[in-house]
Amino acid sequence: MLIRKPADIRPSEITSKSNYVNRRSFIKAGLAAGGGLIASPGLSAVLPREPRAKLDDISPSPFSTDETPTSYEDITTYNNFYEFGTGKDDPHRNARDFEPWPWTLEVEGHADKTGAFHLEDFVKPYALEERIYRMRCVEAWSMVIPWVGIPLADVIKTLQPTSKAKYVAFRTLHDPKRMPGQRRRVLDWPYREGLTIAEAMHPLTILAVGVYDEVMPNQNGAPIRLVVPWKYGFKGIKSIVGIRFTERMPRTSWNMSAPHEYGFYANVNPNVDHPRWSQARERRIGSGLFASRQPTLMFNGYAEQVASLYEGLDLVRNY
Ligand code: MTE
Repeated sequence: MLIRKPADIRPSEITSKSNYVNRRSFIKAGLAAGGGLIASPGLSAVLPREPRAKLDDISPSPFSTDETPTSYEDITTYNNFYEFGTGKDDPHRNARDFEPWPWTLEVEGHADKTGAFHLEDFVKPYALEERIYRMRCVEAWSMVIPWVGIPLADVIKTLQPTSKAKYVAFRTLHDPKRMPGQRRRVLDWPYREGLTIAEAMHPLTILAVGVYDEVMPNQNGAPIRLVVPWKYGFKGIKSIVGIRFTERMPRTSWNMSAPHEYGFYANVNPNVDHPRWSQARERRIGSGLFASRQPTLMFNGYAEQVASLYEGLDLVRNY
């Protein structure tokens, strides 16, 4: 398998405009010092391999909510990750021995820069950001999670999708030896998800590599997962090994499993009930058993930023 290095990728291709402008002076110095793609250790994403290792040089993001984050304990012990079991407390127990390194990510489909990348090389060019996001699960509970990640848009710009790329499809590792939940056919493995290219390019969409300033816990999708805060949590595919640019709408795991319950769009929408329960309210994890459920907001409270993506689309039919 050909593993690509970022040496053939220009700095202007890999950073968002604002980051690029901020980093230009450094990159110039780097180029002067030796040429090639040199990112400062302080500014590029470096992923330590040990569990609970601290991530360095994380900048805060204006996209973060000021709501109080859910505790680390709740974020890492109340999970959905069917590859490690279907109970909420299965993933943190069953993923304990999962070893995510080394990790290879394959980029395929309608893009100029396809191939297999070592994860370190894949993320190294980008600066890490903290994104404190409200997260809403389709099961009517929610959390506030301080993710650490990189904007997916920056990554996509580097990969240079062609005009045929209308969607981005994501695939999780398929390895029943390492992911015991895959020994049962509760889903058609591997787990798959997808976004329109506009959703993938939206500045709120990130590839997350950490939580609470630390490397991504296994149960939350180590070493890299998707986070799309205006959509139900199942869109946030964990432990990604494949990214494919497609012309057609990709198939997604939950839609394949129960098409009448889970659509491709999966936008948080309190006005469209799940066939088996209401989506109008949600239980904030950590708020206590007797706390009242809070109203669910359209697009999970991110309507101002994302509603324009869906103008003219019937959000009852396109659930
Ligand atoms: N990704 C994979 N590969 N497998 C899964 O079972 N579950 C999804 C999503 N990503 C899932 C997945 C669902 S239903 C939710 S709600 C979120 O992960 C939960 O993310 P968290 O456990 O980090 O809060």
